[in-house]
Amino acid sequence: MCGIVGYTGKEQAAPILLDGLDKLEYRGYDSAGVAVYDGEKIQWMKARGRLKILREMTHDGQILPGTCGIGHTRWATHGIPSNENAHPHFNETGTIAVVHNGIIENFQKLRNRLAEKGYTFASDTDTEVVAHLLDYYYKDEKDPLRAILRTMNRVEGSYALGIIFQDHPGQLYAVRKDSPLITGKAADGNLIASDVPAILKYTRDVYFIQNEEIVCMDADSLRFYNVDGEQIEKESVTIQWDVTAAEKAGYEHFMLKEIYEQPRAVIDTLNPRIRDGKIEIEELGMTDEEIRALRKIYIVACGSAYHTGVVAKYVFEELARIPTETDLASEFRYRNPILDEGTLVIVVSQSGETADTLAALREAKKQGIRVLGIVNVVGSSIAREADDVMYTWAGPEIAVATTKAYSTQLIAEYLLAIRFAQARGTVSEAEVDEMLAELRRLPEHIELLLGNKERIQRFANRYIAARDVFFIGRGIDYAISLEGSLKLKEVSYIHSEAYAAGELKHGTISLIEDGTLVAAVLTQEDLYKKMISNMVEVKTRGAFLLAVTNVGNTEVEKTADYVIYIPETHKYFTASLAVIPLQLFAYYVAIGKGCDVDKPRNLAKSVTVE
Ligand code: G6P
Repeated sequence: MCGIVGYTGKEQAAPILLDGLDKLEYRGYDSAGVAVYDGEKIQWMKARGRLKILREMTHDGQILPGTCGIGHTRWATHGIPSNENAHPHFNETGTIAVVHNGIIENFQKLRNRLAEKGYTFASDTDTEVVAHLLDYYYKDEKDPLRAILRTMNRVEGSYALGIIFQDHPGQLYAVRKDSPLITGKAADGNLIASDVPAILKYTRDVYFIQNEEIVCMDADSLRFYNVDGEQIEKESVTIQWDVTAAEKAGYEHFMLKEIYEQPRAVIDTLNPRIRDGKIEIEELGMTDEEIRALRKIYIVACGSAYHTGVVAKYVFEELARIPTETDLASEFRYRNPILDEGTLVIVVSQSGETADTLAALREAKKQGIRVLGIVNVVGSSIAREADDVMYTWAGPEIAVATTKAYSTQLIAEYLLAIRFAQARGTVSEAEVDEMLAELRRLPEHIELLLGNKERIQRFANRYIAARDVFFIGRGIDYAISLEGSLKLKEVSYIHSEAYAAGELKHGTISLIEDGTLVAAVLTQEDLYKKMISNMVEVKTRGAFLLAVTNVGNTEVEKTADYVIYIPETHKYFTASLAVIPLQLFAYYVAIGKGCDVDKPRNLAKSVTVE
């Protein structure tokens, strides 16, 4: 996720900006840049790749004079990682410089409008429309604050912006909506940043900027404004954390932070693809006719990404009536699958670098089959090589065990399934509307589940000494069980297996002993009764039964020993909710055991070997 910094004061700005960007490295990035007002004009430097390159180019900032500037580390969203797409971005005359964290959802519309007015673009980014919009309104208003307010009225999506105007030396502006932004008052100047670590070296007095608040600062003063342009007062907070804790935004581990980022990640993946109540997947690159011609889908991936494919198989088949096979990439690549005309291969990957998934993609392409990538890391190998790419906007994931990428992959797959069903006429408009409304409600449902973490933590504490844990479910609930089980074993090192509930009695049930924990997932109403029978089977053999089910299914309390309810949603989307308590369960068991949750033994975040 991008990082922004800004400084105006009595010291040279560029070294302070680079220093701040160093502290934001943990957010993930692929290019960086700074812009500084040198007393005459705005000067800038950008570089693709590591911050080290920008440091070398600028001699640690020394060759950029000036005491007011902005800096940015970019984690590519719109447009590949490149010098042109790196921030800052400018108006055509280079007199307004902007850095941005977030996604401008209506950028294409704005870009078209601006192009009609004669504006030309130097990058593929969504951010550049902000620089031109500011220019457009500044010409009219001659006042930075008014220009910012009018720009805010036009842009949709999320943003934290740092802005400097050549006509207003020493003044630094910043504004946010749904992306983090803080400002700090230091002895010799004032700063802005995406996150506290970037400025902790200079000050511990921090103001948290709220949605649609604007800050205007110079070397000596800080002023805050609301969305109506009225000046407002804000209280500063003294930060007590150290830098490492600050990178985790106060969370003990990245895994927990990322679990908590899921509502935001889901919104970012969903919202840009729903316009005026309709699904628009611009990047899909398939016509309705091509979608109708599909005869088979293969979803190919590894690990948790594969598990999202197992969920998606049920949704694609039921909703769009397209035969769908979900395969492990390491198997698919060597099994000579039948790929012919009418086949679509969907590869799913957080990193976009997983060796087996990449090899599967290449195998499919070699046979002339169209490949769609669902990828989190922009510009990664899979994103570059797939015919079409649908990005998940989870932001960088640092904990090895994926959580927010898993959740956003599900969203991408649901959207595709609905879009395919629409094109094939296997779903009514009313059903689509209902599903879209349910998708939009998922973030608040996830929030609700996260709010219940204490209850799961208490339960998890009872199982830190467990030897084996089994997860059972049917249909989509089996797919959820796979992920719940993987999360638990990878971070807590407790042996765990996921089983299709009906299959357990064909062997694995022999492992159930007195007190063995069995987590039963039952979110598919038509399968409740079957599931309860399977739960009774293990209970009579001594299992302790945890149930994860839909709110209202109180019947389950007669069989289960402990019940976690998830809010009501559409039956296809329950994985997005049921996985949350299972992620929290795995996390709390692991920390209860003292495991290194963010970096579990023997595992790697990105597996680039076979
Ligand atoms: C590794 C990670 C998993 C991930 C899998 C696939 O095993 O630890 O969390 O699900 O790779 O990675 P990808 O980047 O392709 O999604």
